[in-house]
Amino acid sequence: MSEHLRERIEQRKKETDTVILAHTYQPPQIIDLADITGDSFALAKAAAKLPHKRVIMCGVRFMAESVKILAPEKQVILPAPDAGCGMARMIKPEDILAWKAQHPNAAVCAYINTTAAVKAVCDVCVTSSSALKIVSKLEQDEILFLPDRNLGGWIAAQLPEKNITLWNGYCPVHDELTEAQVLAAKAEHPDALLAVHPECREEVVRHADMAGSTAEIITFALQSDKPVIIGTERGVADTLTQKYPDRAFYYLCPETLTCPDMKYISPELLLAAVNGEQGESIELDETLRLQAKKSIDRMLELG
Ligand code: 13P
Ligand code: SF4
Repeated sequence: MSEHLRERIEQRKKETDTVILAHTYQPPQIIDLADITGDSFALAKAAAKLPHKRVIMCGVRFMAESVKILAPEKQVILPAPDAGCGMARMIKPEDILAWKAQHPNAAVCAYINTTAAVKAVCDVCVTSSSALKIVSKLEQDEILFLPDRNLGGWIAAQLPEKNITLWNGYCPVHDELTEAQVLAAKAEHPDALLAVHPECREEVVRHADMAGSTAEIITFALQSDKPVIIGTERGVADTLTQKYPDRAFYYLCPETLTCPDMKYISPELLLAAVNGEQGESIELDETLRLQAKKSIDRMLELG
């Protein structure tokens, strides 16, 4: 990336009171240009407090929607309007209404990887870093967890006192990973620890030394005195290997662990978004926004 491009982005950001947020799965050049980076929980929390008029969200649609839900007065730009999330596409509000009707006493708990319309018909949101704490604090023992069966199953195994029913959704990227691939990576790097995202299947998580959010994986990898195999979307390992070339971080199946929705943004596209020439300004119906905000507020209160 040229210094000239970086300077133009910086200058335009100042002129337009803009802040750039980037999820940890973004390419290293975008992480480098962002003002704030983090996992979904950190980005949602940051968004609630930012003073800027305009937010550019380098991530996927549900992340930009979460910012708009919490900060409707801001202009929130999603630089690549096609950047969705395969998991978020696996459940619709009407599915939840029908499910709730069968379980009238259950708390409905939505992973943040959902549309604003889905959040609007749920009781509480969670992220991978806050799910365990939040679900354990819910007063209801019966819980409907959606859409990720893997994250939900991981929580259910740790909270046997809760009666958790799972929606049959999954992340098309993490769910591809198999136990055989994990065992092969461990055999290749026998001295390394394994860190994975709880969106992976149980057969994968079972072999991990830690499971957690993308930010928790980064912290674990940086604090480890042993090499670490990174079992989440390749953006995390791309940034770690670029920033810390002397440390040993190993990829776990980079071909499988690539989320195409997280790879649309280049520095040039980001400059075009800062210039107002590219991207979608997120708009939400106000009634729907207020309903969805209840679920996110509950998450911020309990998380
Ligand atoms: P984190 O909440 O851990 O950042 O994960 C978001 C995500 O989309 C994982 O696939
Ligand atoms: Fe969605 Fe999976 Fe991509 Fe995360 S990695 S944004 S859950 S499709």
